[in-house]
Amino acid sequence: MSATKPPQLFYKPLAIGAPMPLREQPVNVERMIHFVPPHLDKVRAKVPDMAKKVDVILANLEDAIPADAKDAARAGAVEMGKTVDFKASNTGFWSRVNCLNSPWFLEDITTLVSEVGNALDVVMIPKVEGPWDIHFVDQLLAQLEAKHNIEKPIGIHAILETAEGMKNVEQIALASPRMHGICLGPADLAASRKMKTTRVGGGHPFYRVIEDPVEGRERMSAQQDPWHYTIARMVDACSSAGIKAMYGPFGDISDLDACEQQFRNAFLLGCDGAWSLHPNQIDIAKKVFSPDPDEVKFAARILEAMPDGTGVVMLDGKMQDDATWKQAKVIVDLAKLVAD
Ligand code: GLV
Ligand code: MG
Repeated sequence: MSATKPPQLFYKPLAIGAPMPLREQPVNVERMIHFVPPHLDKVRAKVPDMAKKVDVILANLEDAIPADAKDAARAGAVEMGKTVDFKASNTGFWSRVNCLNSPWFLEDITTLVSEVGNALDVVMIPKVEGPWDIHFVDQLLAQLEAKHNIEKPIGIHAILETAEGMKNVEQIALASPRMHGICLGPADLAASRKMKTTRVGGGHPFYRVIEDPVEGRERMSAQQDPWHYTIARMVDACSSAGIKAMYGPFGDISDLDACEQQFRNAFLLGCDGAWSLHPNQIDIAKKVFSPDPDEVKFAARILEAMPDGTGVVMLDGKMQDDATWKQAKVIVDLAKLVAD
């Protein structure tokens, strides 16, 4: 009698700091992760239409879902996964589960994988503090996927929203080949760092730089970006691990200009997308995270002027060489991806 074969795990957690092979999978356009509260019937009813307008729909089970609606939200997420054909519009289906030490996480993850594991692309894990959190989720997903015959591995997207997570961001990015990316959670991160703000992302009127005194007029000052360091460090961690970096939520739904500027700063620093919390943020994300047509034209001229990517040429008075060829390729490749 042959011994029963143990279930095959998709991935084994990697030791901290071990080199990680880059993941080989098609890259999707994910300019906006549109958050949906799945316990609300009215909102759920709009999901099939919404799925045609956005790159990713996320069923949110964590913050913003009241404790007494957690079960209903989980059931709503399952209903979405079972009834909406996300693949038909090439829309990603993600869920943000409750944090690992909450009373809801285990039921969130077991229910999602067992009920809609084949529809679920990515599970977003909040308040990740170190690679150990990712290892735990990785193994749990591997067990559940094996048990429920899930056809492809479910990705992990971590939210960077604690000071401890920030300290370990490079190791988090490398913690598993299952890592899809990392996004910024500016509200929780601000609280964890004891930043003195009640805002969700964006600038602050008191965070400024003032010029030196000038004779005869009032000194000018300008707001600075309190998220610059955080986003730049997150982008470095993600880029060096070959995963996506994303901006998170922008809480002032009524300030579309400030939202656009925050998204644009993130895009310029290397982010691929952001969350949309309200339908009016969808078009902003679509515009900002698609490359500017004039930039694409200029980038295409650089690639044409240097067919083998080496040497030096002048275009409109600007020097181009191997490095600017690579910059141009990033923009042209993204334009192609968005156009497909
Ligand atoms: C998002 O979860 C945040 O805390 O900003
Ligand atoms: Mg948060």
